Amino acid sequence: MKAIVATEKNWGIGKDGGLLMHLPGDLRFFKEQTMGKVLIMGRKTLESLPGSGSLPGRTTIVFTSNKAYEPKKLTPDGKLIIVSSFDEMMTQLMLLEYTDGIDAEEDVYVAGGQSIYEMFMPYTSEFIVTRIDKQLEADVYFPNLDKYVADGQLKITWESETQTDEKTGTTYRFVRYAR
Ligand SMILES: NC(=O)c1ccc[n+]([C@@H]2O[C@H](COP(=O)([O-])OP(=O)(O)OC[C@H]3O[C@@H](n4cnc5c(N)ncnc54)[C@H](OP(=O)(O)O)[C@@H]3O)[C@@H](O)[C@H]2O)c1
Repeated sequence: MKAIVATEKNWGIGKDGGLLMHLPGDLRFFKEQTMGKVLIMGRKTLESLPGSGSLPGRTTIVFTSNKAYEPKKLTPDGKLIIVSSFDEMMTQLMLLEYTDGIDAEEDVYVAGGQSIYEMFMPYTSEFIVTRIDKQLEADVYFPNLDKYVADGQLKITWESETQTDEKTGTTYRFVRYAR
C-alpha cells in the first residue's frame, strides 16, 4: 500500500480535527494521485472532509468501531465502505480486487489520520509526502520518516521542485519515500 500525507516541519499533520493549513496546490496533487483509487481513512478524517462525505471518483474505506455508523453525506459518485477491523478491511479489498479490478499494492492509499497511518505503517511500501517548509502547531503526527531514512529502512526516490502557495507564500515540496 501507499500512504499519502501533508506534514509540517516536525511531521505534524493536523490540529483540532482539521488540517494545519489550506494549500490548494496540495489538494490538487492529492486529487491527481488518488482519482479512481481506493482510500483508507479513519472516521475522524472522513468527518473532517468538506461535507463530511466520501470523495468523488474514489472508493473510501472508513474505519470506525461503530458498526451502525451512518456517514453524514454521501457523494453520489464516491463509494463508501465502513469497516471495524483490519480483517474486515482485507476482505473488502479482496472483493474490490474481484469486482473493480483494484490492485491492492498499486491502487490503495492510506489517507490518515494519525491512528490509521500508524496502524498501516508496517504494510506501507511507499510514502507520498507533502513537506511544508513551516513549523505549525499540531496535535496529531505522522511517523518521522527522516529517522527511517537515517537508519536505512527507507530512501527518498523522488522529490519535486519547491512549490509556492500564491496566497500565503508558503513553500512546500512533494517527496516520495520507499522501502
Ligand atoms: N495532513 C494530512 O495529510 C492529514 C491526512 C488525514 C488526516 N489528517 C488529520 O488527522 C486528524 C485526524 O486523525 P486522528 O488520528 O485523530 O483520527 P482518524 O485516524 O482520522 O480517525 C480515528 C477513528 O478511526 C477509527 N479507528 C481507528 N482505528 C480503528 C480500528 N483499529 N478499528 C476500528 N476503528 C478504528 C475510530 O473511530 P470511532 O471513534 O468511530 O470508533 C477512531 O476514533 C485530523 O486533524 C485530520 O485533519 C491530516
